[in-house]
Amino acid sequence: MTAILPHGGKLVNRFAEGNEREELLQASQFLKQIRVNNWTISDLDLIGNGAFSPLEGFLNEEDYRSVVHTIRLADGTVWSIPVTLSVDETTAKGLTLGEQVALTGAEDGVVYAILTVQSIYEADQEEEARKVFKTSDLEHPGVKKLFERSPIYVGGSVKVLNRPQPAKFREFYFDPAQTRELFREKGWKTVVGFQTRNPVHRAHEYIQKTALEIVDGLFLNPLVGETKSDDVPADVRMKSYLVLLENYYPKDRTFLGVFPAAMRYAGPREAIFHAMVRKNYGCTHFIVGRDHAGVGDYYGTYEAQEIFSNFTPEELGITPLFFEHSFFCQKCGNMASSKTCPHPKEDHLTLSGTKVRGLLRDGQCPPPEFTRPEVAEVLIAGMQAQVTP
Ligand code: ADX
Repeated sequence: MTAILPHGGKLVNRFAEGNEREELLQASQFLKQIRVNNWTISDLDLIGNGAFSPLEGFLNEEDYRSVVHTIRLADGTVWSIPVTLSVDETTAKGLTLGEQVALTGAEDGVVYAILTVQSIYEADQEEEARKVFKTSDLEHPGVKKLFERSPIYVGGSVKVLNRPQPAKFREFYFDPAQTRELFREKGWKTVVGFQTRNPVHRAHEYIQKTALEIVDGLFLNPLVGETKSDDVPADVRMKSYLVLLENYYPKDRTFLGVFPAAMRYAGPREAIFHAMVRKNYGCTHFIVGRDHAGVGDYYGTYEAQEIFSNFTPEELGITPLFFEHSFFCQKCGNMASSKTCPHPKEDHLTLSGTKVRGLLRDGQCPPPEFTRPEVAEVLIAGMQAQVTP
């Protein structure tokens, strides 16, 4: 059985090990230090383990401009999200092309990686925002983050020396090399990846299981890196995924592993990025439903699906599975979408995120047609824990 090829052809591994790691750690004491935040540390880890293959470091100027304008790296490989290292002006002035610098955690002082400086450039963040997020509105959480960073970027390859240590749910962290091996051991020839930053409600379950009718395995791959503050915290979500899988999913056809990346909220661009990364984890298929990775009203309901038509199946290398907005129909008595249900909107049970949050905060379960009761209980407990310190 041939596993699906990683994006760009080979799985990148930028971890320094053994003697090389020791030597770099020694050398790092004498290098300039750039202090990096948790978001960058998470990027480093995902470059290191090959989740971001073919990236071997932070984008240099040529790749950056190419990604922003053409959704491709300079060599033509599809890549939709600029993965960049931003530094302040004083730091940038002190750097020389070709030199090595140590990237250290701003909070813990740990040397996470050594970067070889290959490019120092100034980004037009206004343009980056408009191209990547399709808006320069500061109300957009991704745009806000972008403008909080210095526009001076440093590109170059990295060698990762230390990895961030998860505080919880450590057993659900897998590198792409591991998930590839696990899927192989399970004998799954086809695997569908599912990205989520939310609890799994019935609509999510419906599209996952519809996909599972045609592929061998489901890789439930919730994003657990930085999200905006009103998203449900990752540890509460993890508990909710576990009760859901335990009660409603076939154990031999589902696999839970986290995606420790930051959420960009870049809608269509992020859908492409999410798909490429899941290909690296060994998925052959990837679910893109309504307003994937969207926020507010910035993107059309199906824009994150439409963007895939700009690329050939060979360039993508993973098959996107598109799903329409799904809901429970009272008349049909089951989950459906406009593709399968003839009844008017009034028969459909749809609840806004605000409404659901309100119910949970009041300790009330949303209807079982919307959320499984076991999941609702975990979410209610999570909310109560948040308000009672
Ligand atoms: S995301 O930001 O991670 O995309 P979310 O966790 O809500 O957000 O969605 C996970 C996946 O489920 C995405 O592909 C999204 O498009 C899809 N999805 C969410 N809700 C629905 C729905 N009601 N109908 C169809 N697809 C949905």
